Amino acid sequence: MYVKEISEIENLIQKQAQWRNRCINLIASENIVSQRVRAQAGSDFAHRYAEGHPGERYYRGTSYIDEIENQLTTNLKILFACDHAEVRPISGTNANEAVFSRFVCPGDVVMVNSTPAGGHISHHREGSLGKFTKNIIDIPLTADGYHLDLEKTMYLIEKARPKIIVLGKSLFLFPEPVQELSEVCRQYGTRIMYDAAHVLGLIAGKQFQRPLKEGAFLMTASTHKTYYGSQRGLILSNMEADDWRKIDRGAFPGSSSNHHLDTLAQMAISTYEMMEFSEQYAVDTIKNAKALAAALDRFGFDVQAKEFGYTESHQVAVNVRDFRGGERVSRNLEINDIIINMNMLPHEPLKSHDHPDGIRIGVQEMTRFGMGAVEMEHIAELIKECIIDRKPVKEEVNRFRSEYQRVKYSYDEPQPRQLKVLDGKRVKS
Ligand SMILES: Cc1ncc(COP(=O)(O)O)c(C=O)c1O
Repeated sequence: MYVKEISEIENLIQKQAQWRNRCINLIASENIVSQRVRAQAGSDFAHRYAEGHPGERYYRGTSYIDEIENQLTTNLKILFACDHAEVRPISGTNANEAVFSRFVCPGDVVMVNSTPAGGHISHHREGSLGKFTKNIIDIPLTADGYHLDLEKTMYLIEKARPKIIVLGKSLFLFPEPVQELSEVCRQYGTRIMYDAAHVLGLIAGKQFQRPLKEGAFLMTASTHKTYYGSQRGLILSNMEADDWRKIDRGAFPGSSSNHHLDTLAQMAISTYEMMEFSEQYAVDTIKNAKALAAALDRFGFDVQAKEFGYTESHQVAVNVRDFRGGERVSRNLEINDIIINMNMLPHEPLKSHDHPDGIRIGVQEMTRFGMGAVEMEHIAELIKECIIDRKPVKEEVNRFRSEYQRVKYSYDEPQPRQLKVLDGKRVKS
């Protein structure tokens, strides 16, 4: 009865894949998984349940996912040099909620980055944190808007005694001063929660800060932005066992029941890719962000934080008010198959969120497709032609992108052929 409708959906799925394969994708919160990881989407695990922990499930039939989950947890502890890894949250927001639900009570003060400063909605009144307390105060910033004001923040911690300060954000150009705040936080009983959703892959590659080592009591994250895994969430920590039990209960049954086993298995593969390739990937990603920022600046764009070298992450922020704002610019770029998002900038009032001055650009996905500094220069030129010269660039975007199709920093690259044992005989795999 619905055969036609189903075909239409299938058609849309195909169109999306073909379209985004022709696009220059610069959304800072996205990435691409390798073919090897993609091949496991929709495995039998997609149909199954496994509440609880490996070996202590509420369901039978889980022996294989138990093995995979154990391997993943062990590998994450090695990769991030920590004692605990909670892999069951199915998104970054879900991970944040698991923490807030167990560590924030009504009336507790929590300090966060405001929305214009780049803070994520899950840290705010309207999002997850707002379900547990309304006593949320903004972290003060320095005049440039891209750095936390240490002196004022320390003063506020002393006066307001927040239970938690949430560092890490969605517009995330520079490391947060975790180490610098750790002493005053210890003194006043404030715990540092670090939201690494955007920068997890850079931390894995040891090219950003190391929040847990610097004094954060836990780190939450998404696994699909700079960390190029399937779409999930994570909590990592070195906290005491009693506190970790709270996180454990926060993740299950607190904020999820079944934890989407097919993407968990994919994440286990992505994590091996990260263990092998993340260092070079992170170096190249940050280099590319700096190259793109410098080129856009040269072409006449108001690239933010110039006096600080533009960025230390995968992101570039640009004020495009002179070109009719972020909404208009992102739309014009999309028509030309360059995909970015509009973004509020730190100087803006909250009410400007639908028509902000800024755009946010992330280079991690194009880095994975093998682009380097030369290609960043070309992307900047295409953006300039589209936005400043008002020329159509779609054809060139599609031609250029067609040259970058293979996912690097993964085992998709040809690996040496290995012998495997089949029915007692050694054969080529
Ligand atoms: C800082 C930050 N935290 C949390 C999240 C939420 O992650 P997810 O989309 O995986 O729920 C995001 C998403 O963009 C983010 O930027």
